[in-house]
Amino acid sequence: MSDLLGIRDRVILVTGASSGLGRHFAEMLARRGAKVVAVARRTERLDELAHTLAGTSFLALSADVTDAAAMTRVLDQAEAAVGTIEVLVNNAGITLPGPVAELPREDWRRVIDTNLNAAWMIAQEVARRLIAAKKPGSIVNIASIAGIRTMGLVSPYVASKAGLIALTKNMAVELAPHGIRVNAIAPGLFDSELGNNYARRNPERRAKMRERIPMGRVGRHDELDAPLLLLASDAGSYMTGSVVVVDGGFSEIGLTA
Ligand SMILES: NC(=O)c1ccc[n+]([C@@H]2O[C@H](COP(=O)([O-])OP(=O)(O)OC[C@H]3O[C@@H](n4cnc5c(N)ncnc54)[C@H](OP(=O)(O)O)[C@@H]3O)[C@@H](O)[C@H]2O)c1
Repeated sequence: MSDLLGIRDRVILVTGASSGLGRHFAEMLARRGAKVVAVARRTERLDELAHTLAGTSFLALSADVTDAAAMTRVLDQAEAAVGTIEVLVNNAGITLPGPVAELPREDWRRVIDTNLNAAWMIAQEVARRLIAAKKPGSIVNIASIAGIRTMGLVSPYVASKAGLIALTKNMAVELAPHGIRVNAIAPGLFDSELGNNYARRNPERRAKMRERIPMGRVGRHDELDAPLLLLASDAGSYMTGSVVVVDGGFSEIGLTA
């Protein structure tokens, strides 16, 4: 099993690695022998993770994913240190909740910029470098079931994740001839700063959402390990344009359930 999902020595960039799912992914991949490059803005969090992962191949680079010049520098630095990025985990994301009629335009712009524009820009740059190096690769976009179904009070988040899913499929078709696979994971509810911020602002709504999950609980971070390894490793060699839903059945609730 572990050989089938092997990612040893693979050069993997994880964005949003300072907390939540991204931190978990970076740690899990580094402990499995990948050469991990971790990006986020909070340097002290990345430094703490680097300390935890001493003895693994782990490079922390502080940058804002919405800053194209900074991300180009990150990719240059990563390439010089560990080689061409072979797997991109486009995980950095934010949500700024608010009723659709009241949401500030700046909040809309920030969410779309982070979750969609930055993901597109980094994927484009990683793909460009893989094509130049004539190497195969895998791009895994961390979307959300909010990109598949509606979700109250987070219209820019829903739009960004639906856009990311559409982008995943389109890039998959375009990049397939270059041996670059592009897939998405659509998580349901997982505890993290993003989820907890939403819960603080909308406690009743969050509690109701938890109650409606058919499996009766939120997901554990490690329940995303196998889906991520499947898409990142050669085990998923014939998978591209897929959206792997990991949500305890949440997105399948019928209207009468
Ligand atoms: N938790 C859930 O239930 C859930 C469900 C579905 C999908 N997701 C998706 O999973 C991904 C991770 O979210 P999470 O739940 O783990 O939330 P989180 O704990 O808040 O983590 C978000 C990460 O993104 C980084 N980030 C945000 N803006 C950034 C920017 N401009 N530049 C660089 N890094 C940035 C943050 O780092 P810095 O602040 O240090 O920059 C942080 O490391 C997101 O794409 C989210 O939409 C989460």
